[in-house]
Amino acid sequence: MGTQKRRKIYIFDTTLRDGEQSPGASLTPEEKLKIAKQLEKLNVDVIEAGFPASSAGELEAVRMIARGVRQPVICGLARMIPKDIDTCRKALENAARKRLHVFLATSPIHRQYKLKKSKKEILKVVAEGIRSARKDFRQIEYSPEDAMRTEPEFLAEVVRAAIDSGATSINIPDTVGYTVPQEFSDLIRYLIRKNPDLGDKVVLSVHCHNDLGLATANSLAAVLAGANQVECTINGIGERAGNASLEEIVMAIDTRQDFIDCYTDIRLIEIMKTSRLVSHLTGMVVQPNKAIVGRNAFSHESGIHQDGILKKRQTYEIIDPKKIGLAGTQLILGKLSGRHAFNARVRKLGFHLNKEKLEQAFIRFKELADKKKYVFDEDIEAILEDQLAAVPEIWKLVSLKVQIESGQAARAQVRLSFQDKIQETDSQGDGPVDACYKAIEKIVKSGATLSHYSIQSVTSGKDALGEVVVKLEVRGKEITGHGTSTDIVEASVKAYLFAINKISAQILPIEARPSPV
Ligand code: KIV
Ligand code: ZN
Repeated sequence: MGTQKRRKIYIFDTTLRDGEQSPGASLTPEEKLKIAKQLEKLNVDVIEAGFPASSAGELEAVRMIARGVRQPVICGLARMIPKDIDTCRKALENAARKRLHVFLATSPIHRQYKLKKSKKEILKVVAEGIRSARKDFRQIEYSPEDAMRTEPEFLAEVVRAAIDSGATSINIPDTVGYTVPQEFSDLIRYLIRKNPDLGDKVVLSVHCHNDLGLATANSLAAVLAGANQVECTINGIGERAGNASLEEIVMAIDTRQDFIDCYTDIRLIEIMKTSRLVSHLTGMVVQPNKAIVGRNAFSHESGIHQDGILKKRQTYEIIDPKKIGLAGTQLILGKLSGRHAFNARVRKLGFHLNKEKLEQAFIRFKELADKKKYVFDEDIEAILEDQLAAVPEIWKLVSLKVQIESGQAARAQVRLSFQDKIQETDSQGDGPVDACYKAIEKIVKSGATLSHYSIQSVTSGKDALGEVVVKLEVRGKEITGHGTSTDIVEASVKAYLFAINKISAQILPIEARPSPV
């Protein structure tokens, strides 16, 4: 390592904007706020909270985040048009620290087919747009969309115009995930040569998509070439194949300090929790072999590897899983644990529940401890997440009976309560879950169709809690529901009812947004 000071890399999280553009990842404003609060605990530098001009719901969500999350800079995205910029101003008026993020494409294909603008016109719109935004924003970030497929000389010219007009950050997006590491680092070096303020007085940011599976590699190549901000998302969610994943970038910088010589201010211990929360609320299950946060990322199957790990962990593990908050491998509470121990653990896990919710969570913990030999932190987190979900139990599950006989259709008998009145019915189905869902529909008559169903275990072992995520489509909207139980049919019913209760209480995802890019 040289004698130079290590460079700080700013982490700009766009889970709530580009990440939420993932097909099927629709969130309600309350869910967005919950993720933003967790991102604050993770200590990201900037939260891109949304694209306020895209819908009234999105404007409201960004407003809520600007009011409720005080530490990171809160950023809103806008096209380079006065209406969008003004909506961003309104959305961010209560933010402690705010940033406007404007974008306008620069590549030949976008200029010719999408914008129908000449190079000269692009330069004019960028300069005027940024200049006019300066009266309302001290921090302005400009993104030349599809930068990677833009002529480098023209890109440098637009970047110069943006800086001269008052942009404080320049973000270079690889919008379609087209570049490769060497090419990207060459471009970053070229831009710094042309505009030496980049990476110094002006933040030089990169934003990589993962269409070729290179988003993390490209972002790191840019960091090595002088970029000092990375835009990324939790679990790498985002348009198409997603964005660069926050946890991969941050852990690569941390693990390879010897080579990268930079640091971030991310609280590594919060990584797992943030990943689980985003997966839980978006309903986007993390692939088991996903780097850092996948279920298998720290599992060792081969005998040789297991033997090596037992002798010295570092033989086959480059990261200590405890570092990212994966402490759940240890037994923490059992059925003899009392309220005091439970409450202490809840606090340690970073949850703050009111008395009533805490009591309900304790009862669920006791029920679980009766069924399950070992109760892990992950189990408790799953219970607490359920408890904290601000969805009123309009429809409540009273009892459930399923009958399966080989060669015959499954039968389910479901009893639900609605305003203290019990309603009961039965139904046949293609398996027990289908039979339950048909029976529930006969009672609640939501008209929803099931568009997604997934199940995974919260921890390992045959008595593990199963977590089910469903998405129900109703009147063009997709509503996510989740449920946990050691019984997977019950977890499935809970998930379905969770979504039905959201529909009944009108807790709906933000209107389908026109995608900005
Ligand atoms: O991918 C992209 O180009 C974007 C911009 C708005 C930064 O998301
Ligand atoms: Zn993007």
